[in-house]
Amino acid sequence: MKLLVIGSGGREHALAWKLARSPRVSRVYVAPGNAGTAREDGLANVALGTIPELVEFARKEAVAFTVVGSEAPLAEGVADAFLAAGLRIFGPTQAAARLESSKEFAKSFMQRHGIPTAAYGAFTDAGQAHDYLERHGAPIVIKADGLAAGKGVVVAANLGQAHAAVDGMLLEKKLGAAGSRVVIEQHLEGEEASFIVLADGRHALALASSQDHKRLLDGDRGPNTGGMGAYSPAPVVTPGIHAKVMREVILPAIAGMEQDGTPYVGFLYAGLMIGKGGSIRVLEFNCRLGDPETQPIMLRLKSDLVPLLEHALGGELDQAQAEWDTRVALGVVLAAHGYPDTPRKGDPIQGLPAPAEDYHVFHAGTALNGTDTVTSGGRVLCVAALGHNVRSAQRRAYEIAGRIRFDGMQYRRDIGHRAVAAGRR
Ligand code: AMP
Ligand code: GLY
Repeated sequence: MKLLVIGSGGREHALAWKLARSPRVSRVYVAPGNAGTAREDGLANVALGTIPELVEFARKEAVAFTVVGSEAPLAEGVADAFLAAGLRIFGPTQAAARLESSKEFAKSFMQRHGIPTAAYGAFTDAGQAHDYLERHGAPIVIKADGLAAGKGVVVAANLGQAHAAVDGMLLEKKLGAAGSRVVIEQHLEGEEASFIVLADGRHALALASSQDHKRLLDGDRGPNTGGMGAYSPAPVVTPGIHAKVMREVILPAIAGMEQDGTPYVGFLYAGLMIGKGGSIRVLEFNCRLGDPETQPIMLRLKSDLVPLLEHALGGELDQAQAEWDTRVALGVVLAAHGYPDTPRKGDPIQGLPAPAEDYHVFHAGTALNGTDTVTSGGRVLCVAALGHNVRSAQRRAYEIAGRIRFDGMQYRRDIGHRAVAAGRR
């Protein structure tokens, strides 16, 4: 069978790579893909952009089903267009994707369905937002309601920063329409984890847990990024926490979406804050897999992903099971010069290693320039490796990363530090 993956990042490379390993798959098209998906066995890039082009391609090529990597096409209604054309697609409809595309929608949904999350207020009026800040004090968190490509959240340490963030979004319109409404929420303490499931509208199948590293620099310092590295599993997600997340977050979310008339089919990502006493709160929902969490997760997935997605598309996820490599997988993101503000493009990449059983180099912001592979985006590569514990996965990933070179390459040296510390406790 032929499949189609929509997107061009590291997450999509990992997803397409995993799908292509299925004995039932002859080809995975990636639209538009990157240099890594162009070179990978079993994958082929297709230069398609618009939703009608994607629908037309899937129909003409008799694609068995399509998987959507990123949030933007989902928020634009790509799933609705495929379904209307009678084509199978794994990803939520535009209405269901509001769990990610509107923070206000997600917060009121959680409140309505009793899903634990931080207390909040939602505002379009700057005066009311400022009053709310004065009443609640700092630290406090200000979030643009709409999709802002990772730039929409300000964790304000003091009221000065908080007022400035509100003015930047509501008055100066720094984030455009995405920031014309803000959600202001209580600041939560704890350790973050990513909890991602497959959902079929009624049932959910959990993927392995993972943890991202959002800050640019070692020790979780510097500006926020899309994610500088991730590993799986996350020790903070103990079996007890896992069961609690399924019971208090995932199952009520799936049931709530069904009750509200917008059943959720697709990957559902809950970004969690886990408190010291084992409390859980949802920081955000995403209507897709995480990036870079997907890269280590796919490296650990031993089951064929195709039947899992078929079960999801058939509403039979209660009959599916996923088998995981017991090893730890850890991915280190190699970012471009100037990332995250002004990533430089066009730097030639050298030393890309051939893949092996215990690692894979997933591409994100890369392009082909003749026979050269060059940088073409902020997060360039994710080197993902397996090891018997987090330290050995770390060692292996950094050993492979050390063979790769491009001008201005930057990466964190401490991916996995929380799991290493947890191992010592
Ligand atoms: P979000 O896109 O909503 O996940 O927010 C991005 C990042 O901001 C999260 O990964 C957290 O590190 C931080 N964050 C978001 N909401 C809160 C909160 N209520 N309390 C503390 N940190 C938060
Ligand atoms: N790594 C966080 C995200 O994909 O949103």
